[in-house]
Amino acid sequence: MTATDPVFEPDFLWGVAAAAYQIEGAVEEDGRGRSIWDEFCGRPGVVARGETGDVATDHYHRYREDVALMRDLGVGAYRLSVSWPRVQPTGRGVINEPGLDFYDRLIDELCAAGIAPAVTLFHWDLPQALQDNGGWLERDTAARLADYADIVGRRLGDRVRMWMPLNEPVVHTLYGHALGVHAPGYQLGFGALQAAHHQLLGHGLAVQALRAAGCENIGIASNHAPVHAASDAREDALAADIYDHLVNWTFADPVLRGTYPTPELAAALAGPVDEDLKTVAQPLDWFGINYYEPTVIAAPAARDEGASGVLEVELPPGLPFRPVALDTPDRTDFGWPIVPAGLRDIVRTFADRYGEMLPPLYITESGASFHDPDPVDGRVPDRRRIDYHRAHLHALKQAVDDGVDVRGYFVWSILDNFEWAAGYRERFGLVHVDYRTLERTPKDSYHWYRDLIAAHRTGQTVTASRS
Ligand code: FCB
Repeated sequence: MTATDPVFEPDFLWGVAAAAYQIEGAVEEDGRGRSIWDEFCGRPGVVARGETGDVATDHYHRYREDVALMRDLGVGAYRLSVSWPRVQPTGRGVINEPGLDFYDRLIDELCAAGIAPAVTLFHWDLPQALQDNGGWLERDTAARLADYADIVGRRLGDRVRMWMPLNEPVVHTLYGHALGVHAPGYQLGFGALQAAHHQLLGHGLAVQALRAAGCENIGIASNHAPVHAASDAREDALAADIYDHLVNWTFADPVLRGTYPTPELAAALAGPVDEDLKTVAQPLDWFGINYYEPTVIAAPAARDEGASGVLEVELPPGLPFRPVALDTPDRTDFGWPIVPAGLRDIVRTFADRYGEMLPPLYITESGASFHDPDPVDGRVPDRRRIDYHRAHLHALKQAVDDGVDVRGYFVWSILDNFEWAAGYRERFGLVHVDYRTLERTPKDSYHWYRDLIAAHRTGQTVTASRS
């Protein structure tokens, strides 16, 4: 790792990201309905230490302070998500105007600060009322997403600069519907694929609705990473291939090519799948990749008792693949392997796989949890987070130098926040949050990112100042 930061083109977009349930709190305010995460967090034993997003970082009340932090950071864009149950408490019909007003104010605040709002419509917080009706296992939910997209698009479309109907449908499918470690907590195994299909259909319908509402610059934030076979053995290669298809191409191929990666997969799904795929494959202005870590896959063990550990959950027995731990000591405090080259590789793989069909890419999330110390004299030293982002940016730059059209990088996250089932212990923020006082303290990584952005604006090469 070098001490020097990579240099991107002057128009490269520097951003930060967050999501409604992870930062907003105020779950019972101004007519907000319940979401599946409110319900899930209420179940004993599913979220670490029984934590919930009830208060989170209290962004709902402190958004002005948070936007000011972003303005001082100098970012060009902020990727936020709108909470669907704030806008439509039951996920259908009547608009909850006070809920929508919050986003109106937030977007105005961002525009006044010179920050482009990049809006995700569904970052996993489905209205509970829709879940009671089957959630993403029900085809109707896709149409509901389109209605909600229309409402938000009409109200905010004049100021929002980037749109993403969905965040990481793969994680919502796998963790929420196949393994049950995220809301809504279903353990359906391969049965979860129907929820994937309906999310993808919802994406296509929502893109249509946004465009009809006059919105521009629409993409997706989709989680992707290289999948490696554990050995040269044929069985491991085959297992890795199956897994790769499931977690990467089941989600990208429909959006970018209008097909599922295998005919078997399409055949396993209910509904007019071929027709649906035409809807899913709306032309996009860009495609967003969220990258965290590659996966290593082996063939199932002779006596498969369920692979453990590396997906943070016990997997059911009988799967045609087995995730194994990556052989590296370099891990975040969350235990996720640190592999910057994986970002370069997945971006190159997209360019190779889709060629001319690939729109410009953005890295819509990249980040690391370290268990940072509490601030001392207004300072939080987090050198490893600086190293993490610097190394990932170097890797990304290599792909750009190869000719891949990557237009920006969004750090996950601007603030420490509620990391889903892992609760508050995992800290991804550039800004430290004291969860007792809700005080914000910019970490060293914040200052580093600010200097990096400033250097690009003035066209200078930067050597990090506080690292
Ligand atoms: C991604 C999610 C995001 C955050 C990061 C760490 O999978 O999109 O909300 O939890 O992981």
